[in-house]
Amino acid sequence: MKNILHIISSPRAEVSASRKLGNAVIQKIQEKYSDTIVKERDLTKSKVPLLEEVHINTFFTPAENHSEEQQSISKYSEGLITELKEADIIVIDSPMYNFSVPATLRAYFDFTSRAGYTFKYDENGPKGLLNDKKLYVAFTSGNIYSEGPYQIYDSNIPYIKNIFGFYGVSDISVFRAEGLSIPGIMETSLERAIENIAID
Ligand SMILES: Cc1cc2nc3c(=O)[nH]c(=O)nc-3n(C[C@H](O)[C@H](O)[C@H](O)COP(=O)(O)O)c2cc1C
Repeated sequence: MKNILHIISSPRAEVSASRKLGNAVIQKIQEKYSDTIVKERDLTKSKVPLLEEVHINTFFTPAENHSEEQQSISKYSEGLITELKEADIIVIDSPMYNFSVPATLRAYFDFTSRAGYTFKYDENGPKGLLNDKKLYVAFTSGNIYSEGPYQIYDSNIPYIKNIFGFYGVSDISVFRAEGLSIPGIMETSLERAIENIAID
C-alpha cells in the first residue's frame, strides 16, 4: 500500500498544465503500484494563510506555553505536516508564476517548515525529519529554464529541492513541461513531458 499526497498549487482547474502533468504522474505511479490511496491537498481550495506575527510567535513558542489561539494555529500546521509524514510518495504540481512558485505553495511551506516537526537541530546542525519518501515535482513554465539563456532563472526546482532536502527528502524526480508560451514548442511540450514520465 502506497499513500500518495498530491499537492496542487495552480488556481486554474481544467486548463491547468501543472495539474495535468501531476495527474499523469499519479496515474503512472498507480500503474506501478496496484494498491494506492491518493490524498489531495489543493492549496487553491483550502488556502494556507500568509505568515503573520501570531503564526511566527506560535511556531517559536513551546507548545506548553501556547495560548488558545496559538494552539489552534499549531494544530492546523501540524495537520498539514501529518499529511506529509503519512505519505510514502508526494507529488507537487508547481507552475512557475512570476519567477517563483505560486504564493499558495510558498504559504504552505511557511506552515510546514517547523523545527521539531519537519526538521530539528542537533550537534551536527539541521536534520530533516521526513525520511524515506519519494517526491515527484510536476513543473510547468511558459519559458524554458532547464537549459539555454534563461537557466539562471530556474528558481522553482532548486527551491523545492532545498525545502524538501531540509525536511530530509532527497529522493526527488522532476518532470518538466516547459516552453508553454513558445510557439513551436507549446503545442507538444505537455504531451511530451507526460510521455516521458518514468516512475522509479
Ligand atoms: C500569473 C502567471 C505568471 C506567470 N509567470 C511566468 C514566469 O515568470 N515565467 C514563465 O516561464 N512562465 C510564467 N507563466 C506561465 C506559466 O508558468 C505556464 O503557463 C504554466 O503552465 C502555468 O501552469 P498552470 O496551467 O498549471 O497554472 C505565468 C503564468 C501565469 C498565469
